[in-house]
Amino acid sequence: MVALGMLRPGIEAYLHRFIPDRDTILAEMEQLAEARHFPIVGPVVGRLLAQLAQLVGAERVLEMGAGFGYSAYWIARVLPPDGRLLAIERSAENARLAREWLGQARLDHKVEFIVGDALEVVAGLPGPFDLIFVDVDKEQYPASLSLTVPRLRPGGLLITDNILWSGRVLAPDPAEASTRGIQEYTRLIYENPDLYTTILPLRDGLAVSLKLR
Ligand SMILES: C[S@@+](CC[C@H](N)C(=O)[O-])C[C@H]1O[C@@H](n2cnc3c(N)ncnc32)[C@H](O)[C@@H]1O
Repeated sequence: MVALGMLRPGIEAYLHRFIPDRDTILAEMEQLAEARHFPIVGPVVGRLLAQLAQLVGAERVLEMGAGFGYSAYWIARVLPPDGRLLAIERSAENARLAREWLGQARLDHKVEFIVGDALEVVAGLPGPFDLIFVDVDKEQYPASLSLTVPRLRPGGLLITDNILWSGRVLAPDPAEASTRGIQEYTRLIYENPDLYTTILPLRDGLAVSLKLR
């Protein structure tokens, strides 16, 4: 599946040409996403998540807004044998699908899917995590920050999806709460003295924030 992204369409398609074929489970997930118009991160960003997880030697990972497990699958595959990913998803049906696929791939011992509102669930989790991936409703992004940053270890990564929101972030005074949420969040992650942030314009834009201390 070639998802529309922030880069020129030709560049996005060009990048996809180099991504090796996925295994049958990832391919099935990509087909379902396409059939249902469900927004998964896709293989270019999936690889980036897996690469960043390896770069920081991630053993404990948190995902907020995990869908049916596509991004979780990319991360779980590169965790060490005793690594653990806590994936929070509000849709019980998505979580059921995710558990099924991760079970088929024998990755289910590494991933725990929790059904609920990610912000509420995370408030009750102690941390620390080596990597946190945020992909919840965009109007919730600003409120998520006071939950994620204290739960990241120094040297850990906060990765946030849809940070360029198909270009809607360019609007100076957007009407939608989602766009305003992303704009506010982007300001907060750049201003936070404990974070060192860069935005990558892959697919719909990703913020990669290193926790400094
Ligand atoms: C863009 S999809 C996630 C896709 C997934 N990260 C992937 O790439 O495979 C966003 C998901 O987050 C879930 N979601 C949104 N806000 C949430 C919240 N506050 N708590 C839990 N799940 C949430 C939605 O149900 C949806 O499945």
